Amino acid sequence: MQKKIEELKRLREEAKLGGGIDKINAQHEKGKLTARERIELLADEGSFREIDEFVKHRSNDFGLDKQRIAGDGVVTGFAKINGRDAALFSQDFTVFGGSLSESHAEKICKIMDMALKLGIPVIGLNDSGGARIQEGVVSLGGYAEIFLRNTLASGVIPQISAVLGPCAGGAVYSPAITDFVFMVKNTSYMFVTGPNVVKTVTHEEVSFEELGGADTHSTKSGVAHFSFDSEVEVLEKIRQLLTFLPLNWKDKTPELEFDFKENYLQPKLDEIIPGNPNKPYDMKEIISLIVDRNEFLEVHKDYAQNIIVGFARIGGVSVGIIANQPSILAGVLDINASVKGARFIRFCDSFNIPLLVLEDVPGFLPGTEQEWNGIIKHGSKLLFAFCEATVPKVTVITRKAYGGAYDVMNSKHIRGDFNFAWPSAEIAVMGPKGAVEIIFKKEISSSKKPTEKLEQLLSEYIEKFANPYIAAERGYIDEVIIPSETRQRLIAAFQLLKTKVDSNPKKKHSNIPL
Ligand code: HXC
Repeated sequence: MQKKIEELKRLREEAKLGGGIDKINAQHEKGKLTARERIELLADEGSFREIDEFVKHRSNDFGLDKQRIAGDGVVTGFAKINGRDAALFSQDFTVFGGSLSESHAEKICKIMDMALKLGIPVIGLNDSGGARIQEGVVSLGGYAEIFLRNTLASGVIPQISAVLGPCAGGAVYSPAITDFVFMVKNTSYMFVTGPNVVKTVTHEEVSFEELGGADTHSTKSGVAHFSFDSEVEVLEKIRQLLTFLPLNWKDKTPELEFDFKENYLQPKLDEIIPGNPNKPYDMKEIISLIVDRNEFLEVHKDYAQNIIVGFARIGGVSVGIIANQPSILAGVLDINASVKGARFIRFCDSFNIPLLVLEDVPGFLPGTEQEWNGIIKHGSKLLFAFCEATVPKVTVITRKAYGGAYDVMNSKHIRGDFNFAWPSAEIAVMGPKGAVEIIFKKEISSSKKPTEKLEQLLSEYIEKFANPYIAAERGYIDEVIIPSETRQRLIAAFQLLKTKVDSNPKKKHSNIPL
């Protein structure tokens, strides 16, 4: 027996070396960690249990029969992350450039199937040259098997992708279907066709980084939800993200123990809104003052910054925050902001994470660029997502809530559970100036002093309509609250809403305007 155990240990040691020392050194020289080093950083210490360590490819073409490496370019298994279970796969670039063979795909599918049965998240660390070219269509079939599982698992278990090296061609669609994509600057890239093909087809000269690097996808395309300078940071942030998420859609909303002594007033909130309604302020300051321990994990931080989305805890309860940002484009809703918000809301609703909306929005962005690119259909995604969500939904209007955007941003009418407003709220069909110019057009133009007339009518209109009380009279606002009490009110609201039950009519699935 002892001999057999020694043999097993030797085989394991061999498997752990993947493509061998030279390839590991080459990986380090590129500033990248190996597949196993990444898992060590992601998982709780000593918790990773590998499966399929000895799986090899079955191909005999192009001399592959002489290169059968245990593991076949992907490390798979289960681990604890923050003490909770997760399924992992980590592609090993030292073996055939992490390319995806039939066996490699089978390993990934196996842990995805297990994760679905167990109801635990799947985290994929991607670093791959794409389809194993020598295996041809078999490899394409392997990708399709993964895409199918990604799709079927969507909304059942959280799926997180880190792109830590190349990810090209159709391979990009697996991370894209998952809930969150992390990238690392300078060493990772994603694109459907690389710079060479781009040059041939469109004659554009573009580098790998510019075409599909972390900056591009976190600022321009929105494909990446998070981008960081190092792999270590990426892996740390995945751990942090998981603390906010349940294990699966049936799991309860994650909650940390909360000491109600932390239920304090925040007097600074009474001073944040500027006297001049057109002056910007930073909504992130408000977020930081109302969440537990000022901890806010922002998603899509550098993309469509006129809307802010991310995770925090309020009274220990995980919440997803969607907030207009008055300091960027006055917090207006445009196409990118709408899509960003909608995707986030749908993730939270799938996984029982309550929603908090902080609202200061002048409306939807006007212009041909927006109209021709479909602000109607994209804006309606945000509306649809809010309407459809059945998780606890709380809104705080800090200042402007104008026009359609008032309805869209989780108004009472679309099933907001608690709709609060600060005394600074202005809830109206449109901004005072636009409104006065339309309804008093004749009076202003026929006046001998049109500027003075406009000013007079404007101040009358502001006095009458730019406040929260007309909406409160109707019950559209449940309560006008003192800003410094916001944190306390939200803690109480989310505690009360823990027993909320709501549902949508039975159907196969809805048809969100895509
Ligand atoms: C087989 C591959 C491979 C692949 C890389 N290798 N990609 N082997 N199939 N797709 C091997 C290389 O031959 C090399 O082996 C080792 O991995 C490391 O690759 P290098 O080229 O030395 O590394 P680097 O210089 O860092 O370049 C990485 C790379 C490049 C940019 C990813 O390897 C590359 O362009 N690969 C091909 C990418 C590609 O076209 N893939 C198919 C895309 S289509 P040795 O033994 O020399 O070390 C696709 C379709 C998916 O994926 C469709 C799904 C629907």
